[in-house]
Amino acid sequence: MALTEIVFFSIFLMFTLQPSTSVEVCPVLCGTQLIRFPFRLNTQPGRCGYPRFDLSCKNEAHAILTLPFSGGFTVVNIDYTFQNIWIEDPDSCAPRRILQGLNLAGTPFDLLEPRSYTFFNCSSASSTVPKLAEAKLISCLSGKDFSVVAIPTERLDLPASLSTLCSEMAKVLLPLSLSDWSDPGDGFILTWNEPDCKLCESRAGTCMFKNDTGTDVGCSGGFND
Ligand SMILES: *[C@@H]1O[C@H](CO)[C@@H](O)[C@H](O)[C@H]1NC(C)=O
Ligand SMILES: *[C@@H]1O[C@H](CO)[C@@H](O)[C@H](O)[C@H]1NC(C)=O
Repeated sequence: MALTEIVFFSIFLMFTLQPSTSVEVCPVLCGTQLIRFPFRLNTQPGRCGYPRFDLSCKNEAHAILTLPFSGGFTVVNIDYTFQNIWIEDPDSCAPRRILQGLNLAGTPFDLLEPRSYTFFNCSSASSTVPKLAEAKLISCLSGKDFSVVAIPTERLDLPASLSTLCSEMAKVLLPLSLSDWSDPGDGFILTWNEPDCKLCESRAGTCMFKNDTGTDVGCSGGFND
């Protein structure tokens, strides 16, 4: 099946599985991204989503996650089963946003598998920066005659050449996706634990509020084992 067919079929399934209570389930598309519980668009009724899972839809094309202290990120993908959201910097330099201080306070999100990295600004072109096994060149922060590299903090047994060429900028936690990529450019993954819809999602159920007022979630439909 083509992706759009799968998406439309999923929406069809959600509507047909919708139980006859007044609890709302409100799947909606923004571009090709299906937005549904625990997320909602900020134009939908509040009970469509879990508190603090609001997204906006920019130009009817891109869902935007706005973190209260760190600003807006473009949503690349939401994995409802594993409860991950892949986001990227609209200006394609996620490391810059993280260096500015990615603050997840007041959000339901955590970095996925964070690891401490130390950033260095090296006064030379990238070609002459000493090659270290785990050093990542951050090309979106590098210029013609300086290069920014990130090195796992626990591997900071620096060769002398690096310490004379480079000055330390900052120590930050990078989430898995960024630290994994050879040139961490655009995006990274956040994860959430509450509400926990993993089991429901893995059984193709519809995760939703149990009643009209509380924040307890339950599962409707789906298969049992
Ligand atoms: C790196 O250092 C150079 C000067 O050596 C400076 O012009 C540049 O702005 C610095 N880059 C960053 C990302 O701090
Ligand atoms: C709805 O659920 C909450 C718990 O999440 C409970 O405290 C409340 O009494 C329930 N309300 C109704 C009308 O059942």
